[in-house]
Amino acid sequence: NAASSLQQVQEPSIYSGDEYADVDWDNLGFGLMPTDYMYTMTSSKDGHFAKGQLSPFGDIKMSPSAGVLNYGQGLFEGTKAYRKENGNILLFRPDQNAIRMKIGAERMCMPSPSIDQFIDAVKQTALANKRWVPPPGKGTLYMRPLLMGTGPILGVAPAPEYTFLIYASPVGNYFKEGFAPLNLLVEDDYARASRGGAGGVKAISNYAPVFNAMKRAKGRGYSDALYLDSANKKNLEEASSCNIFVIKGNLISTPATNGTILPGITRRSIIEIARDSGYKVEERDIPVDELVGADEVFCTGTAVVVAPVGSITYKDKRIEFKVGAQSVSRQLYSTLVGIQMGHIEDTKGWTIEI
Ligand code: COI
Repeated sequence: NAASSLQQVQEPSIYSGDEYADVDWDNLGFGLMPTDYMYTMTSSKDGHFAKGQLSPFGDIKMSPSAGVLNYGQGLFEGTKAYRKENGNILLFRPDQNAIRMKIGAERMCMPSPSIDQFIDAVKQTALANKRWVPPPGKGTLYMRPLLMGTGPILGVAPAPEYTFLIYASPVGNYFKEGFAPLNLLVEDDYARASRGGAGGVKAISNYAPVFNAMKRAKGRGYSDALYLDSANKKNLEEASSCNIFVIKGNLISTPATNGTILPGITRRSIIEIARDSGYKVEERDIPVDELVGADEVFCTGTAVVVAPVGSITYKDKRIEFKVGAQSVSRQLYSTLVGIQMGHIEDTKGWTIEI
């Protein structure tokens, strides 16, 4: 079964000290740096997840006919652990990742862990890898929950068994630009998602199809590609790995989650923070033509956090936006990160100290 198809591992002695791993914390990017432990939990044939376990990070073994390998039956999540000044660890809204995975699992015909199981697994993964949570201000521990059809299947159908797994890596800035503004290129050939597809859930199969456009944009010196709606090539959707917001005066707009937009947890948090700060926020269709005359544009995501956009190029026309210390996006970024790091009081109950 799927449990025994995972490599046999030694029982780990879980880390409980306070020291840090031997890492050059000043030069973290967004790349894999394997940490001590990963968490796995497999479903029984009736689709229930029982008790999971921590084991040393390592390869997993599965049948060549696993559902995830043959039919892409898989989802992923992204969530981070933050180091407080007092050394303790904060998690940010892991319940929202759990809910999103549950919704995605229904779309992809998979059983999913309960909300409590998911949150408990994230806590265990963060604590077991505590020495890999970067010092305050140096980065975060990015955790990647996966849900995959690991049971063997040949006919086109859901897999008979599933594995839930979380691995972790310390990360710094997602874009090589660091805090410098992004320059995006509007992609008007490839689309990221289409109506009725799976763009509204975090299916693993949403990501490889953007590689071509992303590579093309980066090859031309841009930070990333920005996708338009597949039907009319008229409205903004999102970038390869993050949501997008457009600011004009007191109005902050972001594409509505209509099934093709990933419902980002950072996206939702920024909407709330912006409303609390007195901005009007609209979730709606945003025609690409509206970029002309916009004051600011920024991207959001767990990996990306809040990244200012300095320019967007559409059909060889470059449109520029305000950036810098006085920008609205910088204020929103500071509030969000302040809550995540425990510098600003969390009145919303978004953080969990572990
Ligand atoms: C995240 O922000 O966590 C994501 O999932 C985006 C990613 C593909 C790096």
